[in-house]
Amino acid sequence: MVADDMKNLKIGVIGAGIMGRALINGMLAADLLDRRNIHASVHTVKSKEAVIATLGVDTTCGYPADKVAETDVFLICTKPYRVVEVLEDLKASGRLRDDAPVISIAAGTTVATMEDILPRSPVIRAMPNTPSRIGAGVTVISPGRHTKPEHMALAQRIFSSVGLCLELDETHLNAVTAVSGAGPAYIFLIIESLADGAVRVGLPRDTAFQLVAQTVLGAARMMLDSGKHPAMLKDEVTTPSGCTIGALLTMEDGKIRSTLARAVEEATDIAGKLG
Ligand SMILES: NC(=O)c1ccc[n+]([C@@H]2O[C@H](COP(=O)([O-])OP(=O)(O)OC[C@H]3O[C@@H](n4cnc5c(N)ncnc54)[C@H](OP(=O)(O)O)[C@@H]3O)[C@@H](O)[C@H]2O)c1
Repeated sequence: MVADDMKNLKIGVIGAGIMGRALINGMLAADLLDRRNIHASVHTVKSKEAVIATLGVDTTCGYPADKVAETDVFLICTKPYRVVEVLEDLKASGRLRDDAPVISIAAGTTVATMEDILPRSPVIRAMPNTPSRIGAGVTVISPGRHTKPEHMALAQRIFSSVGLCLELDETHLNAVTAVSGAGPAYIFLIIESLADGAVRVGLPRDTAFQLVAQTVLGAARMMLDSGKHPAMLKDEVTTPSGCTIGALLTMEDGKIRSTLARAVEEATDIAGKLG
């Protein structure tokens, strides 16, 4: 059942690519919105046809000016270098309502950049991640100067429908981009590496992927459910003279901790230059 208070909400998803589609898919799977009230836009006809075929939502190339006035909330999901042009187009339509929140998920695009173009709009900067597609995402949202609690509550509803949603000051958004925004890719690389090890010691590739992915899922859930520090959970499964400590020391020899931590530092630096 679509939530009663969201039933009539009209949402515009500008840039229905990987993330835009993940969010539409997640919101539909959570039954948050009425499919007929979603309007998506893309750049090319090929993408337009793909969005219509896969998600069944009204989709156009570019966002039609006559749709702007009736849209209650915008989700800007284009690449960062396209955001300014998209916001300029919304402004140029002359139909953007001052009460319609404009939420951007673009890495590195600041609230100040958005407010320079749309000085009267309630803007929100958000950083979701791709597991939003299956309802297991995590998103951080930060308000702009005209953003009221009800706008943040709306953003909370949208992103909570596809996972966990936290609110943080914008100063942390580049770090969030580097940790959870880009994070699924790091985990995929780790899964692939552990599976390579499994194949090296004789396990079939598909079994290796199943074992490793389920282990990652289980370990993450154990940590979240118990609230324990990961080092404590690690120590609990590290038998003296056992194979786990042998493997962990091999990873430490390869500087796994500082490699992962420095990777986040590097990604944060890059995120700050994207906008
Ligand atoms: N991918 C991630 O893991 C991730 C995580 C968090 C946040 N983000 C942020 O999400 C944003 C989108 O990333 P993505 O990976 O989803 O990119 P993407 O797959 O390339 O999607 C971008 C979409 O924007 C469309 N587009 C381009 N110009 C447009 C315009 N003027 N009007 C309407 N649509 C337009 C493109 O249309 P065509 O397909 O027709 O070219 C494409 O569908 C980025 O800003 C990124 O920083 C990404």
